[in-house]
Amino acid sequence: MAALHPIFLFLALTALTASVSAHNITEILSGFPEYSDYNNFLTQTKLADDINTRQTITVLVLNNGAMSALTSKHPLSVIKNALRLLVLLDYYDPPKLHQISKGSTLTTTLYQTTGNVPGNLGFVNITDLQGGKVGFGSAAPGSKLDSSFTKSVKQIAYNISVLEISSFINSPGLLTAPAPSASGVNITAALEKAGCKTFASLIVANGVIKTYEGAVEKGLTLFAPQDEAFKAKGVPDLSKLTNAEIVSLLLYHARAGYTPIGSLKTTKDPLTTLATNGAGKYDLTVTSAGDSVTLHTGVDSSRVAETVLDSTPLVIFSVDNVLLPTELFGKSPSSAPAPSPTSPSPAPVVAPSPVTEAPSPLSASPPAPPTETPGGAPAGAPSHESQNSTSDNGAGHVKGSALVAALITVSVTVVSSIVLS
Ligand SMILES: *[C@@H]1O[C@H](CO)[C@@H](O)[C@H](O)[C@H]1NC(C)=O
Ligand SMILES: *[C@@H]1O[C@H](CO)[C@@H](O)[C@H](O)[C@H]1NC(C)=O
Ligand SMILES: *[C@@H]1O[C@H](CO)[C@@H](O)[C@H](O)[C@H]1NC(C)=O
Ligand SMILES: *[C@@H]1O[C@H](CO)[C@@H](O)[C@H](O)[C@H]1NC(C)=O
Ligand SMILES: *[C@@H]1O[C@H](CO)[C@@H](O)[C@H](O)[C@H]1NC(C)=O
Repeated sequence: MAALHPIFLFLALTALTASVSAHNITEILSGFPEYSDYNNFLTQTKLADDINTRQTITVLVLNNGAMSALTSKHPLSVIKNALRLLVLLDYYDPPKLHQISKGSTLTTTLYQTTGNVPGNLGFVNITDLQGGKVGFGSAAPGSKLDSSFTKSVKQIAYNISVLEISSFINSPGLLTAPAPSASGVNITAALEKAGCKTFASLIVANGVIKTYEGAVEKGLTLFAPQDEAFKAKGVPDLSKLTNAEIVSLLLYHARAGYTPIGSLKTTKDPLTTLATNGAGKYDLTVTSAGDSVTLHTGVDSSRVAETVLDSTPLVIFSVDNVLLPTELFGKSPSSAPAPSPTSPSPAPVVAPSPVTEAPSPLSASPPAPPTETPGGAPAGAPSHESQNSTSDNGAGHVKGSALVAALITVSVTVVSSIVLS
């Protein structure tokens, strides 16, 4: 596999520079002691990073008094969602508030982007009321407009507008959601639900799930390849790896610490992973362009597809491709597994990226090969029971099931001793 060509690194760095935000919400609010609680919570929940990486947004702020109505009664997870509902993904300055067509509109928020919100409960209703008053409420039918615009705080046209409102906006279920205990999250189930069944069964079969579970309490970020990723052309024959190497590969898909998408976007230094065993080993670099975040291993790259779960201190992302560390798949002939005879010559594992919202220099990366593997050859290994969870693992996707079966077969016996430390 070719390492990243210098030109792509250069372009990636350019993209990174371009995505560095023009605003800093922490700094904007630091000039206003009346919003200090709000500001502290933005930092604590890392929502500040998310806000700083977005453009064309409106932050509805609460003064310390209005904030206490929220913070005195509710756990951090609820406060975080309530604050997310106050970050509108559109730019509203005071004149625009009074020019809403037909006097009322629904606008989406950061809360809606979590993917855990039923229907349009992550939308906010803005209504231009009689007498110059502007009301804010949940978009849920029958909701009251329980908050109103009080004053303008700051505008950087048309990037960020900060407006003060009278109180937080309630949305059905927002305040009553039980505080998730991260250690109570069933990681396997969450992965399966998100279309990462192959990865889920690999971490279970290899005992790596225990390492993940042990790490959750102090913060854990997972990059889980989607099922398609294991079937992609160019995924090397991992059955040539030793058990320890397979564990390293799986640990490479996780990192200690809570790093939600906004923080990932603002990351400049290489990220260590759970596989890191020395300076610069088994790390990942991150580039972002607009809303798109890409991880680079030195061998391949993968788009971060979506946030599967963001529940402080655990965040799970799905990624388009298996992340191939240079330590296992780089040029070093001693450790590089020989290319599988049935697979075509190594090609960059870059799945087609359906979401290319922001045209960027990164879209000049090598053309993506098709992800479908031509069928026909018989699977080399018997199907493992746990691989029958999706009918996708049929003979049409030989590479994926052979790979998975090999990984499980090779590693299932030995690994728990390596992992449980
Ligand atoms: C808005 O953001 C863009 C991109 O970050 C930046 O180039 C521009 O200068 C910003 N506008 C203002 C008025 O700061
Ligand atoms: C934003 O401003 C705060 C306070 O001024 C500062 O501590 C922080 O480093 C800034 N963040 C970025 C990304 O520049
Ligand atoms: C916003 O809420 C008000 C009051 O409940 C309602 O009359 C109006 O239809 C809502 N606007 C939209 C766009 O749903
Ligand atoms: C977690 O989910 C998996 C798969 O959905 C299930 O097999 C397992 O029993 C669950 N674990 C716990 C502790 O509930
Ligand atoms: C495997 O999956 C197929 C098709 O989804 C199903 O018909 C079959 O019963 C499954 N076998 C086992 C052992 O679960």
